[in-house]
Amino acid sequence: MNGKRIVFRLILAVFVVGAIPFVLIRPLKQTGEPLERQPRIVRQDPANYHEYHPDVGEIILPAMVGGPAAPLERKPDEWEWTGPEACAECHAKHWDSARKTPHFVTSHSASRDTVLGSFSADRNKISTGEEKIGFSMEREGERLYQTVTWKDDSIFRAAFDVVIGSGKNIGQSYAFWTNHALIQLPVSFHTPSGRWIISPGFKKGTAVFTRPILNGCLDCHVTAWDPLDGDPLSFGYRSRAIIHGVTCEKCHGAGRQHVDYHRANPGTEKGRHILAPGELTPGQSNELCAKCHGRTKDLDVKTGVHTNNQLQRLKMSECFKQSSGLRCTDCHNPHRFERGNHILAASRCQSCHELKDCKAVVPGKHQYFAERCSLCHMKREALADVNIYITNNVIIPEAFDHFIRVLGPADQKGSKK
Ligand code: HEC
Ligand code: HEC
Ligand code: HEC
Ligand code: HEC
Ligand code: HEC
Ligand code: HEC
Ligand code: HEC
Repeated sequence: MNGKRIVFRLILAVFVVGAIPFVLIRPLKQTGEPLERQPRIVRQDPANYHEYHPDVGEIILPAMVGGPAAPLERKPDEWEWTGPEACAECHAKHWDSARKTPHFVTSHSASRDTVLGSFSADRNKISTGEEKIGFSMEREGERLYQTVTWKDDSIFRAAFDVVIGSGKNIGQSYAFWTNHALIQLPVSFHTPSGRWIISPGFKKGTAVFTRPILNGCLDCHVTAWDPLDGDPLSFGYRSRAIIHGVTCEKCHGAGRQHVDYHRANPGTEKGRHILAPGELTPGQSNELCAKCHGRTKDLDVKTGVHTNNQLQRLKMSECFKQSSGLRCTDCHNPHRFERGNHILAASRCQSCHELKDCKAVVPGKHQYFAERCSLCHMKREALADVNIYITNNVIIPEAFDHFIRVLGPADQKGSKK
């Protein structure tokens, strides 16, 4: 045997041995069965989610299925978090108004009231766009399900367990529990169109039920959770120990010590053992908001993670540059629902500006101008560096650009309101 042949055989051997796992793991692929008769169903451990890229016509199901296994309940007093209801006892005013904000309901348990999409027979179906694989949203008593269908047959269903997103502006995504892992559901809801959509980042023509909800989503949409085995990087969570929403303790820190202290010392006037953001510098206060409202480099925007970069944009404004310490909270009361209130917003501009600063004001229209500053000076557009990805073919909702400036007439879209 000459040298060339040995090398050739070696390469061949490596190739054949290397291919064995593929043949074993993917036996269905080459059977030649037309997709018309059967979809390819693969069982996958969510832990390996990122190592597998489904092909069109594939349905990927979790290797094991089961609801949140044992409850894994914690004794409440073992946890440093109390949940916002505990704050209501002494801060009734903050509680009453804050719980109406999108922050408070940016995640919650799924129920007929909290899932916004339609379950009625004429509006509960959506196609993956390929190969007759579709989804059907179904209700059974109090439980809600996403069922993957092949032609008209049901193949698999998973429950709506957790809702992410208030749905007040953009939409909602959903997750189900399986053995302590939270798995994102392949269908989401899109508020502007009022329709079900394929979840951002999911591939056309596939049905995937193994994409874990990682800490990322929870960091920005959930107040507190308890990772299994204390590993903050895992995606296993104690299902009963989740405090949903961006609630009091997300901004003020875990409240157990504060609550215990003030219950034991009812006379105390100064708050103890709690973060008082009012005492932060403007920079620190803005960073608190920018934890979630500023895009950071390590986030992969293409997979559906999205923020509006409000702090980065605001910093480009003369308002920010030429004033000493403009804060998010100068224009937003985090304890109140204020969306769409342009009159309130305009009053905040006028804590620094006078109406006469606006060179555009025309005689006889003072009130009109005085109530609409933000509509003429903050552009509404899905900017290139303000990313909220939904899916192809759906309109991305507009957001207020926080780079405050003089806009051209075409950009002052909402000023007629
Ligand atoms: C048993 C009563 C009690 C409970 C329960 C309670 N607080 Fe307080 N809190 C107080 C008192 C008293 C003060 C001091 C007076 C004030 O600022 O209202 C205070 C002050 C504060 C302050 C302002 C601190 C400062 O120095 O400006 C914050 C923020 C706060 N609490 C947050 C919370 C949060 C969040 C919770 C729930 C986890 C909570 N509180 C639960 C009694 C309570
Ligand atoms: C870095 C913080 C951050 C991460 C990580 C993040 N989000 Fe968000 N998300 C936001 C912010 C901020 C908004 C509000 C957008 C705005 O107006 O700026 C939002 C909005 C949403 C909305 C729309 C709510 C509505 O109706 O307006 C949904 C749905 C959503 N996120 C789902 C998710 C899911 C699912 C994940 C994980 C894959 C995730 N988010 C990860 C910060 C984050
Ligand atoms: C999104 C973040 C955020 C959430 C959620 C939030 N707060 Fe605050 N809170 C702040 C900031 C920021 C301040 C400081 C206000 C300022 O700078 O004007 C503050 C101030 C306070 C104060 C001091 C008095 C005041 O109003 O300035 C209390 C008390 C308080 N919050 C309680 C609560 C309670 C109780 C909840 C839940 C019901 C809550 N907060 C939810 C951010 C938040
Ligand atoms: C832990 C992450 C987080 C922090 C911290 C946070 N936000 Fe948010 N914020 C969100 C998310 C997520 C949404 C979208 C809620 C939704 O509609 O589902 C949001 C929405 C908002 C909105 C839009 C409300 C509406 O009516 O649609 C405003 C305004 C806002 N945040 C201001 C602030 C300010 C000001 C701070 C700092 C005091 C702050 N946020 C801190 C995550 C956060
Ligand atoms: C903390 C004070 C403060 C607040 C609040 C504030 N501004 Fe300003 N703004 C300034 C300062 C300072 C300047 C620079 C000096 C000037 O042009 O008056 C400025 C500049 C501007 C300019 C001129 C921009 C340019 O490029 O020349 C516009 C337009 C403007 N502000 C609109 C607004 C609007 C609209 C709001 C409310 C949404 C607002 N400002 C809120 C302080 C503020
Ligand atoms: C000078 C005033 C001003 C400041 C400062 C400001 N905002 Fe806003 N913001 C507005 C106005 C006005 C709106 C539109 C409100 C409406 O009409 O619903 C808005 C809207 C928002 C929204 C709702 C999303 C959208 O675009 O519809 C979020 C989230 C938000 N701001 C976050 C922040 C954060 C975070 C900061 C600090 C980095 C901040 N804002 C600082 C004036 C301000
Ligand atoms: C109907 C749209 C509209 C409304 C409402 C409006 N502005 Fe203006 N504003 C403009 C235009 C256009 C200019 C540029 C005028 C020029 O340079 O001739 C301007 C100029 C300004 C400037 C001066 C910028 C410079 O060149 O120095 C400031 C500051 C300002 N506006 C603030 C405000 C404030 C504060 C309010 C609310 C009380 C407001 N504007 C309401 C359209 C508007």
